[in-house]
Parts: sequence; C-alpha cells; structure tokens
Amino acid sequence: MSKIGILTGGGDCPGLNPVIRAIVRKGVLDNCEIVGIENGWKGMLTKQSYVLDINSVSGILHRGGTILHTSRTNPYKKEGDSDKVFQNFKAMGMGSLIAIGGEDTLGVAAKLYRDYKLPVVGVPKTIDNDIVGTDFTFGFDTAVNIAMECIDRLHTTAESHHRVMVVEVMGRHAGWIALYSGLAGGADAILIPERPIDMDEVSELIKRRHSRGKTFSIIVVAEGAKFKQGDDIKQCQELDAFGHVRLGGIGQMVAEKLENKTGYETRATVLGHIQRGGSPTAYDRILGIRYGLKAYELAKNKKFGRVVALKGNEITDIPIEDVLGKLKTVDDKMFEMATPFFG
Ligand code: F6P
Repeated sequence: MSKIGILTGGGDCPGLNPVIRAIVRKGVLDNCEIVGIENGWKGMLTKQSYVLDINSVSGILHRGGTILHTSRTNPYKKEGDSDKVFQNFKAMGMGSLIAIGGEDTLGVAAKLYRDYKLPVVGVPKTIDNDIVGTDFTFGFDTAVNIAMECIDRLHTTAESHHRVMVVEVMGRHAGWIALYSGLAGGADAILIPERPIDMDEVSELIKRRHSRGKTFSIIVVAEGAKFKQGDDIKQCQELDAFGHVRLGGIGQMVAEKLENKTGYETRATVLGHIQRGGSPTAYDRILGIRYGLKAYELAKNKKFGRVVALKGNEITDIPIEDVLGKLKTVDDKMFEMATPFFG
C-alpha cells in the first residue's frame, strides 16, 4: 500500500478542501494511505502530519480555507532546510507528495523534484488566476463573485450619495479579479497592473459619464496597479519568505487623485481578505474535485514532476517547470473587451 502526502502552501483559497477530499476519497477506495501535512512546507520541516481517512474529510466540501492549514514557509530560504524536507519525506515513509499551491509552493516542489528527485505532483491554486499553463484556478471564481457582490452593494450607496466609489481588489500583479469582477459588476472604469493608470484619462471617463446625467460611478482597481505618471504608492516594505511585498493602498490614492481632479466626492473601499474567505462557489468545488482526482491519478501512476492543469474544459497535466518563472496576466484583447463599458 503506497502512502501519499498532501500539503497546502501559500495563501489559502476557497476550493482547497474539495481537492483534499477528492484525493482522500479516491485514495481510500484504492486502499492507499493518505497523510495530511500541516502548514505547508513548514510541516515537512517539523514532520507535523496525520492520517486522513474518510471521516476526516467529511463535511469539508463547502468549507473555505484548508483543513491542513498553510504557511508561506520556503525551505529554500535557509541553508539545509531543503535537505531536511527530503530526509523527513523519507522518514515519514511516503511514496509521493501532492503539493497544492501557487507559484511559490509549486516552485519549491519543482526544485525538490530537480534536486532530490522527490516524487511530487503539483496542483495549482490561487484566487489571482495568474498561473501559466492552466486556464482557471479554483478560488478565482469565488473571489470574483464575492467582489462582484460587494460592487453591487457599493452601487446602491454610491447612487444614494452621488459619490464615486473606488473598490480595491486583490490579484497581486495580475488584473484578473479586477477585470472579471468589474465587468460582472458593471464598473465604469477598471484599473489593472497590466495597464499603468493615467489619472487624466480616468477623470475624463468619469466626467463624461457624469455629463450624461449620472451622479455616481464605480471604479475597480487591482491592488497591484501602478500610476503611469510614476507616483509611487507607499507599499509596506516587509517581504515574505518568497520576497513578495504586501500590496495595498492604491485604491485610496486613486480616490484622492480623482476627487482633486473632478471635484466629485470619492470614497475608497478595500475588499482584502474577504475575497479569500468563506464557501467556494459550485464552479470552484467542482474544479477542486476534478483537480484532486487528477492529482491522485498522477501520483498513483507515478507521473511525478507534473502539475494538473485546466485547458478549455479538459483536465490535463503539464511539466511542473512550465508553470514557473512567469505569470499569466491580462492581455490586451481581454482588456479591450471591457473598454466599451467604461465611462
Ligand atoms: O495570492 C493570493 C493573495 O490573496 C493576493 O491576491 C494578495 O496580494 C496576497 O495573497 C495577500 O497575501 P497575505 O494573505 O499574505 O496577506
């Protein structure tokens, strides 16, 4: 009987539990022992794990977050830690490891596969939808729906008070959440990292709208967006173990600049981690289940160094190194689709 480990690393997202449940349910049917590693790569350093049976994954399908907990621990940051992960992997008696995570977690998995031939399979996850090689990651649809609902709510209060509302959404350096939630929520402008913000252009769009008699507007801005004119926003300089700065603050700056330029009363709202919390949508539950079943199949068939991917409506797999070193960002064609609705 082979033993398969599962870990979840990086920021959590709705849909992780459906992946874990699918791996366990299928593995148990095959008489395979499934072990949950706690707190991402940190758990591989501390050997924190427990056996996952059918009961331990009962009632988790609809729950957000991850029952295995997570961390942003990077075993390639400190000398000797990657060796330790490999030694612990052997000591824990596992035959393979399924790593569920974003670019950082999968990057560690790829290095462990390269350096130690660690038998690993990757599952891409992120609300940001920025992983190359896969069309959609679970968590994204939920985040978009949450942001859309918040935009809907902001519409009514914006209209009552004749205000402009700037909504800052997550997405790191990709504008997917902003684009999708902005389109679905009927935003009057969408500002994304792929297109530096021209505040003159934004204020012209909003003035044009108000000249038609509208007295309120909604602007969606991605947390990673930057100004064209080079007005740097003051980011928190603290870096995580993978060297990422904590983003945030662009919404307030856009609001202040817009109010100065137009004279319209403008407020900013930051949606933050609300977008990552709570129950996954049906789409994300089913995508998570499909990813989990495929990951289990890859592990069972010893197809290591691979990552599950969604291409069109097909679940497939690609080499793990294919998803690293670059981000899937919003291309011009996708963005142009939204521009007829601006202003
Ligand atoms: O990658 C997912 C994400 O939610 C990003 O959209 C965001 O920038 C970041 O994680 C926030 O990270 P943390 O949860 O560590 O604050």
